[in-house]
Amino acid sequence: MLRTHNCGELRIDDTGKQVTLCGWMHRSRDLGGMTFIDLRDRYGITQLAFNMETDAQLCQQARSTGREYVLKVMGQVTERSNKNPKMPTGDVEIIVSELQVLNESQTPPFTIEEETDGGDELRMKYRYLDIRREVVRRNLELRHKMALETRKYLHGQDFIEVETPVLIKSTPEGARDFVVPSRMHAGQFYALPQSPQTFKQLLMVGGLDRYFQIVKCFRDEDLRADRQPEFTQIDCEMSFVTRDDVLDTFEGLARHLFKVVKGVENIRFDRISYQEAMKYYGSDKPDTRFGMRIVDLNGLAKDHGFQVFDQAELVAGICAEGCAGYSRKQLDALIEWVRRPQVGAKGLVYVKYNEDGSFKSSVDKFFGQERLKSWADAFDAVPGDLLLIMAGEADATRKAMGELRLEMGKRLELRDPNTYACLWVTDFPLLEWDGEAQRYHAMHHPFTSPLKEDIPLLGKDPGRVRANAYDMVINGVEIGGGSIRIFDRPLQEMMFEALGFTPEEAKKQFGFLMSAFQYGAPPHGGVAFGFDRWCALFGGSETIRDYIAFPKNNAGRDVMIDSPSPIDPGQLRELHLKTI
Ligand code: AMO
Repeated sequence: MLRTHNCGELRIDDTGKQVTLCGWMHRSRDLGGMTFIDLRDRYGITQLAFNMETDAQLCQQARSTGREYVLKVMGQVTERSNKNPKMPTGDVEIIVSELQVLNESQTPPFTIEEETDGGDELRMKYRYLDIRREVVRRNLELRHKMALETRKYLHGQDFIEVETPVLIKSTPEGARDFVVPSRMHAGQFYALPQSPQTFKQLLMVGGLDRYFQIVKCFRDEDLRADRQPEFTQIDCEMSFVTRDDVLDTFEGLARHLFKVVKGVENIRFDRISYQEAMKYYGSDKPDTRFGMRIVDLNGLAKDHGFQVFDQAELVAGICAEGCAGYSRKQLDALIEWVRRPQVGAKGLVYVKYNEDGSFKSSVDKFFGQERLKSWADAFDAVPGDLLLIMAGEADATRKAMGELRLEMGKRLELRDPNTYACLWVTDFPLLEWDGEAQRYHAMHHPFTSPLKEDIPLLGKDPGRVRANAYDMVINGVEIGGGSIRIFDRPLQEMMFEALGFTPEEAKKQFGFLMSAFQYGAPPHGGVAFGFDRWCALFGGSETIRDYIAFPKNNAGRDVMIDSPSPIDPGQLRELHLKTI
């Protein structure tokens, strides 16, 4: 090795040792007779000291090194007179006797510091320099630990990791596929997997019993803070299990990760149905770190002459505790907020429950004090609270209410990043109606089993069929999702029919799976977690990009390697593709 120690490990007990360190020139300070250099590597920073009086030439050499030069130094560990309690190595410094420049560096385009002056795009272009920053490195270390601990836990539960192919045929996961043209088969394409869904089911038919894979998935969809075109799943499947077996097993994984990575014990998982989640939180991924449940006011608010309520399918609201003192300006700002296209509400009715027990509302003309008191009671409101109410088409109103609830939770600082509210949302609808295409789509994917008691509805009223599907939600983030699968051919055929596939289409797309199901497929189910999302949640960030070594930007580009990019005409010809 070129070094005896790294830059993060020397302590006061090492005083007197002759050591060799390697690293990057983080910063330097010239204080008259002395020059100090902070030498940095992955493990930390160690101060180097050069004395003009004892070795002027060496000191000059130190002064001539620039930021990010790669250095190798030899010297003696010495107790510092001016200790730095903020640094683990802050009690010591190296009195350098020999300095070697292993490589020079151009001045980096941004400072390699915790608070850098580099904007997003610049840092992405020079991601290898960004990775030298402690924050990014810590994120990648967290990711490594998560992956390692996931493997340990699942290995301990008899899961085996199996790699599935990346050049496949399109998987029906709902997003667009990325495709790869075949050179050997003119006009034909591979697709990159949106998930290994069909393969993991085939592994169950293959008798592997418990499979997992930490695996890249590819989806050509619009980007958001929590979405990348290529992302990683912890993908899992189990045979001979019920839904509760799956949920219990992966609660175990979550508990393990919380404990060893975050040091958090006693994590509790709640289970609520999709229907309840929508009713009380206006979202299928509710943030349950705080209450503020949505209350249905249809019975108390309709038929009092207020047209907006009378014509609405749903009147519902939330109670913002202690907000009765909101000013006109604050209320107007909230109304503006709910009218933004992202929320899409038409308006907002407020009721202030004043400290003196009286009510002041924006609908005083239609509702007297007593009526408003009955509303307040429905919310268990107390004087000082503010009721915020919306009305309209039921689903849209619930969703808008859900958005407002999250916003109020944020404003009232109820979404504490150090609290974890974990739950499973269960019983999702099996199918959702696509008005444009005039057909049903699988809400999850076509292999998800309906709840047994709802199977008879499949032919009659498919929209009402509930799926044996579940999502893991932590602090309002969808961390993972899965289901118990259909494992017999007749039910799978019924499902394809409900989805509007002709038997020929179903055979063409999924013939391999249908045929596998004829050879003794075991009952099975599984789940996949968004690994990047889980890392970001544990790291306290909403942006998964921070936890991916080389992510794509908001436009789906890798600005460092400049991809996607055109390919040369010869390559295009070989792939039987025409130039645009
Ligand atoms: P699903 O499509 O719900 O299920 O995906 C599982 C989890 O993957 C994460 N995720 C993403 N993360 C980052 N960027 C994306 N573009 C992205 N898309 C999804 C989410 C999500 O919960 N095969 C099924 C699983 C199964 O049924 O077992 C599947 O892929 O956290």
